[in-house]
Amino acid sequence: MSAIETFDLTKKFGEFVAVDGLNLNVKEGEIFGLLGPNGAGKSTTIKMLIGLLKPSGGRITVLGSENLMEYKGRTGYLPENPAIYEYLTIKEFLTFIGRIKKVEKDVLDEKIIELTHTFSLEEKLKSYIGSLSHGMRQKVAISAALLADPKVLLLDEPLTGLDPKSQRDFKDIIREKAKDHSSILLSTHILDVAERLCTSVGIFNKGKLMATGTLDDLRELSESSSSSTLEDVFIKLTEEGEKDI
Ligand SMILES: Nc1ncnc2c1ncn2[C@@H]1O[C@H](COP(=O)(O)OP(=O)(O)O)[C@@H](O)[C@H]1O
Ligand SMILES: [Mg+2]
Repeated sequence: MSAIETFDLTKKFGEFVAVDGLNLNVKEGEIFGLLGPNGAGKSTTIKMLIGLLKPSGGRITVLGSENLMEYKGRTGYLPENPAIYEYLTIKEFLTFIGRIKKVEKDVLDEKIIELTHTFSLEEKLKSYIGSLSHGMRQKVAISAALLADPKVLLLDEPLTGLDPKSQRDFKDIIREKAKDHSSILLSTHILDVAERLCTSVGIFNKGKLMATGTLDDLRELSESSSSSTLEDVFIKLTEEGEKDI
């Protein structure tokens, strides 16, 4: 079953076309990596999926619904630049988000303990967010996206600022979520991450999807040898014209 689908999704800023007729299909249990250079249109796409930007054209279906209000509650979103309140402690912030998302109190308390344990933030629960390092804030923002047990996760550059241990913890959580039939769409320009984490990837450039598939599909498409890295494939595909699998 498809968890996220877009049909000719388009976003224009004035005359400029940031997302150009995007047809995306992310299946249940999939970890889909939206890969592309800076300015490719990754954040714009994710913002349209979560309703922060209104599409100029096309349609979006998430969890079988075109109604944002219906699927928003079951969707976790990590923004590119998360806005988190500096003057709240981690515990207060996560409680605040959990209440907005209507997570039951007992479940919420447990979830906060679980997430802060996973990200080694227990000792910081009572620290003000304003006092945390960039990587720690990112972990808080990721925790907030995971609080309400979302069936769909939209993560914009989730690994920014995370140290290697946290990156690994994050990847483990994402794999667990996927095993649990959640669907994950994440954007990144770090190809290595996509290579190790994603079950399929889409190579995105100048608002267009150049190719989608598993890494093996993409290798085949770029007619590279089986030893080539995603980087080789990425560069080859973004240098050439649009291709379909
Ligand atoms: N609000 C906006 N107004 C005008 N142009 C924008 C706006 N947001 C993004 N863009 C442009 O759209 C393009 C895609 O941006 P973005 O989706 O942020 O790329 P990515 O996340 O892949 O780096 C860029 O050229 C960017 O400058
Ligand atoms: Mg971006």
